[in-house]
Amino acid sequence: MPSPTSILSLFLLVLAATTVSSTDQLIQMFPKQHIVGAEGDTKCESWKFSIEVNNAGTWYSIPQPCIEFVRTYIDTGRYLADSRNAAAFSLTFARSVKVGDGKGMDAWIFDVDETLLSNMPYYKATGFGTEPYNVTSYNEWVETGLAPALPATLSVYKWVKKLGFKIFILTGRPVSQSAITAQNLIDAGYSGWEKLILRGPEDEGKKATVFKSEKRAELVKQGYTIQGNTGDQWSDILGYAVAKRSFKVPNPMYYVP
Ligand SMILES: *[C@@H]1O[C@H](CO)[C@@H](O)[C@H](O)[C@H]1NC(C)=O
Ligand SMILES: [Mg+2]
Repeated sequence: MPSPTSILSLFLLVLAATTVSSTDQLIQMFPKQHIVGAEGDTKCESWKFSIEVNNAGTWYSIPQPCIEFVRTYIDTGRYLADSRNAAAFSLTFARSVKVGDGKGMDAWIFDVDETLLSNMPYYKATGFGTEPYNVTSYNEWVETGLAPALPATLSVYKWVKKLGFKIFILTGRPVSQSAITAQNLIDAGYSGWEKLILRGPEDEGKKATVFKSEKRAELVKQGYTIQGNTGDQWSDILGYAVAKRSFKVPNPMYYVP
């Protein structure tokens, strides 16, 4: 009679073989970047976890099996619920900061796209990031100036302003879109920012992480303490001159390096 240990070994061997062969099938079914992270991740929750916490690193498009998941995530309000949850934690932190001490040098940074403003009308019309990125049509959308606020971030913005933080809006949009961006922000309910910082000619070709770190470092040099930073991309958050606390709002549609 085989020992319990050998039965267990056999079981593990069979399990390992099964796992390997189904992974192989998965690799054959999808191009490399389309592999959903885990076996049994039929609901794409594990994929979403991995992209949101940056375990996935660079990714180029929504995996084919997760397109419907992203559509549902956004359409059923779970996207908004996740951003509200991020907002709640942001506010808990903001209220804990002793703002000002008379100097008014406590800063909070906000990103624009998918953070202060939502380009969801554009992405809904183009398949939630499933169609190849078209810079022409995207810029046409930006130039309409019709992007609505992401409601949760709008409330964070209003609160941190009320609490006395100096607000800096730091976006990878080019300076050529400066006027329309400012107007769109005002129309969406934002006001009273200290400075709107866009990508200048000298910033062309820089990765967002580098560009944004440089701009944050300038603020630090001017004497600001960057207390909070809100963005939908890890490139809004990583690098140097990072905020005391950074808050990631959800974005399962695209990744900006
Ligand atoms: C990109 O968008 C522009 C403007 O809407 C359109 O004319 C063009 O055909 C699009 N390009 C592709 C490859 O779809
Ligand atoms: Mg953004």
